[in-house]
Amino acid sequence: MSGWPRCVQYLFYYETPKTLVIPNITAGCVFRLTQLLVVLYVLGYVCLVDKAYQETDSVVSTVTTKVKGFAFTNAFSIKYWDVADYVIPPQGGKSFFILTNMIVTFRQTRSRCPLFPDLSTVCVDDCDCIEGLNDPRGSGIQTGLCENFSTTVKTCEVISWCPLEIDSHLPDHALLDSAENFTVLIKNSITYPKFNIHRRNIAPHINSSYLRSCEFNRSSDPDCPIFRLKNIVSEAGEDFQDMAVKGGILGIIIDWSCDLDWWARKCSPKYSFRRLDSRIPNNDVAPGYNFRFAKYYMDQGGEEFRTLFKAYGIRFDVIVFGTAGKFGVVPTVVNLGAALSFLSLVPLVADWFLLTCLRKKDLYSRHKVSYLREDTDSEGETMHTIFGTK
Ligand SMILES: *[C@@H]1O[C@H](CO)[C@@H](O)[C@H](O)[C@H]1NC(C)=O
Repeated sequence: MSGWPRCVQYLFYYETPKTLVIPNITAGCVFRLTQLLVVLYVLGYVCLVDKAYQETDSVVSTVTTKVKGFAFTNAFSIKYWDVADYVIPPQGGKSFFILTNMIVTFRQTRSRCPLFPDLSTVCVDDCDCIEGLNDPRGSGIQTGLCENFSTTVKTCEVISWCPLEIDSHLPDHALLDSAENFTVLIKNSITYPKFNIHRRNIAPHINSSYLRSCEFNRSSDPDCPIFRLKNIVSEAGEDFQDMAVKGGILGIIIDWSCDLDWWARKCSPKYSFRRLDSRIPNNDVAPGYNFRFAKYYMDQGGEEFRTLFKAYGIRFDVIVFGTAGKFGVVPTVVNLGAALSFLSLVPLVADWFLLTCLRKKDLYSRHKVSYLREDTDSEGETMHTIFGTK
C-alpha cells in the first residue's frame, strides 16, 4: 500500500481505541462532574419537569353557557332587558355575545330614500346619479333619481330599508352598562379517551344549593363555575365599561392539564382570562366588535317592517385545552435512552479539558493518539505521536 496516495492509505487504516489511564485528580473530577451533570439533567428535566416518562392524550371537551341578569336602559322605547334580548346567539355554546351598546333604527321599510349627503352622493339633477349603481359599501341600490334630502341639499335616491341607519354617533357610555353584573354559568365536560377519564368542571363535591348562591373567586370560591362578567373582564386586565362601548373579544381559558399517575394524581380545571382581540393603544382604526341584526314585524296592513340594531358588545370565547399524562414503559425507555446518550459526550468534554487546561497537557497529548509502526525492530512498538511532538 505504500505506493498509494496518502489520503487513500488513511482510508484503509484501522483505528481502535486504546485505554489511557491518567492518574490526575483534576481530570478525574472533571470527568465525573460532567457525568453527574448529565445524570442530573436526565433526572431533573426529563423525569420531573418534562415528565417524559408519560404517555399523553389531548382533551376532548364540550361547553355550554348560561347567562343570567336583567337590565334597564333609558334610551329608546326598549326599557327592560333579559337574557333573550341581549345574548346572541341564544343557544349558549362555547362562544356567546353580550350586547352592551347599540345603534337602533326603528320602523324601517323596504322603500326609497335619499342618501346621506357626502362628496359622492350630493347631486344637482338626475344626471349626477347612476341608475342601478350598487356599491357594496353604500346604503342601497341607486334609482338614478336626484331627490331633496333637506330643503337645501339634494342627494341620489336609493332602494333600501328606509329610513337609513345613522351610525355615526355611538353612545360613549354603554347603554347596557349593568351587563357588568350579569353572571354566566359555564358547564364544561371533558374526556381523555385514551385513559378513559371523564370530568366536569362542576366537581362532585359541589351541591345544588352551593351552585345556586356561589360566584367564582380565585381565593374563596375557586371551584364555582359561575362567573360575574365584570370580574372576568377585570382579571383580563381590562375595564368592563370601557370595553362595553365599542365591544371586544374575551377569552375564558380552561386548562385541564392532568397528571394521572397515582403519586401525583390531580385533574381539575384552572381558569384564566385574557382579551383576545388585540387592542393596540393609539390605533383607533376599526376597534372593538360589532355586527347588525334586525327584528321583523308585520303591521295591520300586512306591510313588513323591521327594527335594525347595530350591536356592540363583548364576545366571550371559552377555550378548553389540556393534556393528560400517565406513566408508560415505551416513552420511559425511549426518552431515558435519548437522554442517557448524552453520556457519550462526556469523554469529549474531559478530553478537551485534558488537552487544553492541564499543566501536563503536552505529555498527555503525546500519548493520546499514536500510530503503530509494524516495521520497527525488536524494541517492539515505537510510538510516533502526532500531537505536541517536540
Ligand atoms: C353592579 O352591582 C353593584 C353591586 O351590587 C352595584 O354597586 C353597581 O352599581 C352595579 N353596576 C351597574 C352598572 O348597575
